[in-house]
Amino acid sequence: MVIKPKIPFPGPYKAHVTGTGSFLPKKILTNEDLTKIVDTSDEWIISRTGIRERHIASDDETTATIATEAAKKAIEDAGLSPEEIDLIIVATITPEMGFPSTACFVQDWIGAKNAWAFDLAAACSGFVYAMSIAQHFIISGRYNNILIIGAETLSRITDYEDRVSCILFGDGAGAVVIQRSETGTRGIMYSSCTSDGGGWTTLNCKAYGSRNPIGKPLKDPKDVYMTIRGKETYHLAVRRIVELIDECLEKCELSVDDIKMFIPHQMNARIIESVGKRLKLPPEKVFINIDKYGNTSAATIPIAIDECCKQGKVKQGDIVLLVAFGGGLTWGANVIQF
Ligand SMILES: CC(C)(COP(=O)(O)OP(=O)(O)OC[C@H]1O[C@@H](n2cnc3c(N)ncnc32)[C@H](O)[C@@H]1OP(=O)(O)O)[C@@H](O)C(=O)NCCC(=O)NCCS
Repeated sequence: MVIKPKIPFPGPYKAHVTGTGSFLPKKILTNEDLTKIVDTSDEWIISRTGIRERHIASDDETTATIATEAAKKAIEDAGLSPEEIDLIIVATITPEMGFPSTACFVQDWIGAKNAWAFDLAAACSGFVYAMSIAQHFIISGRYNNILIIGAETLSRITDYEDRVSCILFGDGAGAVVIQRSETGTRGIMYSSCTSDGGGWTTLNCKAYGSRNPIGKPLKDPKDVYMTIRGKETYHLAVRRIVELIDECLEKCELSVDDIKMFIPHQMNARIIESVGKRLKLPPEKVFINIDKYGNTSAATIPIAIDECCKQGKVKQGDIVLLVAFGGGLTWGANVIQF
């Protein structure tokens, strides 16, 4: 007996990026400011990471408020009304609260009353994971308009007594609208997502969850903050990102020449440069804006996409490769023709 699915998936559909937006809190924390808090220097931070400053949320800004600002801009850019959004995914590791999800707050505050909404926790790979989910929901024919957001207030889980980690992180949000199209060839061409839970100790924040619940004293009071094993992350990130770019080019039968812009997760300018050298990528094709924002985890890629589009670095028809590595461990990439 042939079972007919209730929902037809007539395809083939394309998942187009049709709108982008970003939001950075006004307050800026410079390297010079950090020298007054920990034993470091502007020269050390720039030479080891490429970071000059990062944006920090004010007391009345939260992950949901900054996500909402970025979302409004992306929806406007796409020429849609909030009611036309079918699904909202917020990639974040600094959610508004334990529950409900940050995405539910955004859904309410932008007035997307026809959308369902959820958060996705894949650390720095959160946005490329969300892009992959959106791609598959669109090409299946199930939805027309999906809003994906990367938003973080990492300053809330940063230990400003730890000079290794506090120099790295900032706050910010970026959003992208993905729409279904039945014509043309443009759209998300390929996504690849991988996890290795065995590597969880490399990057994590141990409090407060089921293992370390609120109310139970932590073994180490510093466990409320992010812990990073910087050197280990550095080497793993370079290796995985190189592998991912190779995989994407092979699967899509593309060469470096076909890619207009490589947009890597902004974790350290040296990591990005090292990947570029190994793959012989022309530096002008590798987008770096870490100097202005630091590492904003799931938000770095959508902020970068928005900047590339608004600055005319990426235009309709251009092929872009997004690639990320982060806690979990998680890593992933998307190839998109804009
Ligand atoms: C964190 C990171 C910048 C450190 O750079 P590094 O070149 O690996 O530096 P090291 O950890 O080897 O430290 C070198 C020295 O600088 C010191 N140092 C560390 N942070 C410093 C700072 N902010 N200012 C001055 N000195 C610092 C160290 O104490 C060490 O001193 P020692 O040699 O006397 O022991 C780098 O490893 C990195 O970017 N890693 C990945 C980042 C990451 O995990 N991001 C989150 C996930 S996406």
